[in-house]
Amino acid sequence: AKAKPSFKTTTGNGGEPHQIATDGDRLTTNQGVVVADDQNTLTVGARGPQLLEDHILREKITHFDHERIPERVVHARGYGAHGYFQCYKSAAKICKAGFLQDPSVKTPVFCRISTVAGSAGSRDTARDVRGFAVKFYTEEGNYDLVGNNIPVFFIQDAIKFPDLIHSVKPAPDRDFPQAQSAHDTFWDFVSLNSESMHMLMWVMSDRAIPRSLRMIEGFGVHTFRMIDKKGDSRFVKFHWRPKYGAFSQIWDEAVMVAGADPDFHRRDMWNAINAGDFPEWELSVQVFTQEEADQFDFDHLDPTKLIPEEIVPLTPIGKMVLDRNVDNFFAETEQVAFCPSHLVPGIDFSNDPLLQGRLFSYLDTQLSRLGSPNFHQIPINKPKCPFANFQRDGHMQMDVPAGRVANQPNSLDNGGPREDPKSGFHSFPAEESGAKVRLRPESFADHYTQARLFWKSMTEPEKRHIVGGFSFELGKCQETHVRTRMLGHLNNIDRELGTQVADCLGMQGMADDITPVVPVGDPEPSKPLSQYAVA
Ligand code: HEM
Repeated sequence: AKAKPSFKTTTGNGGEPHQIATDGDRLTTNQGVVVADDQNTLTVGARGPQLLEDHILREKITHFDHERIPERVVHARGYGAHGYFQCYKSAAKICKAGFLQDPSVKTPVFCRISTVAGSAGSRDTARDVRGFAVKFYTEEGNYDLVGNNIPVFFIQDAIKFPDLIHSVKPAPDRDFPQAQSAHDTFWDFVSLNSESMHMLMWVMSDRAIPRSLRMIEGFGVHTFRMIDKKGDSRFVKFHWRPKYGAFSQIWDEAVMVAGADPDFHRRDMWNAINAGDFPEWELSVQVFTQEEADQFDFDHLDPTKLIPEEIVPLTPIGKMVLDRNVDNFFAETEQVAFCPSHLVPGIDFSNDPLLQGRLFSYLDTQLSRLGSPNFHQIPINKPKCPFANFQRDGHMQMDVPAGRVANQPNSLDNGGPREDPKSGFHSFPAEESGAKVRLRPESFADHYTQARLFWKSMTEPEKRHIVGGFSFELGKCQETHVRTRMLGHLNNIDRELGTQVADCLGMQGMADDITPVVPVGDPEPSKPLSQYAVA
């Protein structure tokens, strides 16, 4: 009688296993040949040289030699879990996406939360932005909401992203520091990009050192569009709010925890889910029209700006619960490929120039990280609805399409899948016109008002932590002219902030007269920068 398999190979993703479980307890090679001895290499005599013909040894070692793939160029360290999303009621009034219509439907999701700057082996409690990426396996295809735990970003244009990341990653000559913004190059870069000021306020605040991954917010950052059945579109901003509320560590705790347990956040997440204490977030949207956007005193396409909730309140639309840890970290969390251009009918992009650049970057990087154009066939990336097209071949092709037709249109028998204008994805037909230019709009020029709003909304302890954050990190910057330039910006945000950081750095008064640099290529601000400064 056949022995019962003692282990099975799963997809970890609810689908069919793509590799059949080994028969009984017998260990085999990748060709299915049963291995008689997995402990001793083939040698000439018990103490003699090894033989090249030992195909069992060579197969095992060769596979091991290729176990690692390149880590993500950003967000390399992350932790993921499975769960579901459920809408509270039909969102049909604003959005026709199928997964937002029926509150009885649980849409499966995979969520990965990450740090941005550190390598895959860096520590969990670094001061950093947290990525908050969710893949919804909807019946109309995969939808990815690839956000962060901070609602704004460092830069307004994707063309600056490689420079931003190079400035924060380990310096090319010495390969440190890591996952920490205590970097001459980082402070040099951001102080030459005054658009980073709002984001810097968040990053130097408690938000950047969360207590737990279960206690962070998530934001889509960019403005997106939702489209209803009639084809009408509204703009939206996405917000995830944790059921437990948002909590942080103080810097001293984070530093100690980093030493005692670099895996603090992932351990906390895994333990909670294993114990049945499932992390939960509410998804809300801020919905607004073009006419309303025209009234804002900032540009809704500028990713360094948030929309104050006093202007556009949050509308809760559903919840996400993470209720299952992965079976295999590599197969799932490491191989998952999120992409902001994975959309379903009813959701679309805006012209945010940072978002537009991201639309190119993710698929491109994943081709090199995962090594094959067929990575959508990896179970964690595979849609859970039927998918069929005429893309063929390529590295690691898992599908075996039958028949002679691999083109469309065609008029042959069994000619394969057909387009469907009714249920298919249509881009929102926004009207566009204008000259081809490399020019940032003047409406992106105010880099201080929201940074100042953030500072003014803080309690006294939070302000102390922000001053502490700037002072600690800037204190690690060796270049006096860079520190002075940063102090100029801080003065421009708020004199109290600038003065307190200058005091901590022993640089009293050094930056009082500095007008922040407007980098080459930026528009001239519509009003003098001094007008943005506190009187
Ligand atoms: C990951 C590029 C801005 C959120 C990545 C990756 C790249 C990238 C290349 C690695 C992807 C992979 O290997 O699978 C960019 C570019 C940006 C940008 C070019 C700006 C132009 C942003 C912004 C957000 C964000 C503004 C948040 C709204 C994320 C997240 C991940 C990620 C959450 C990790 C996804 C995961 O968990 O696998 N980004 N990014 N990125 N990015 Fe961005």
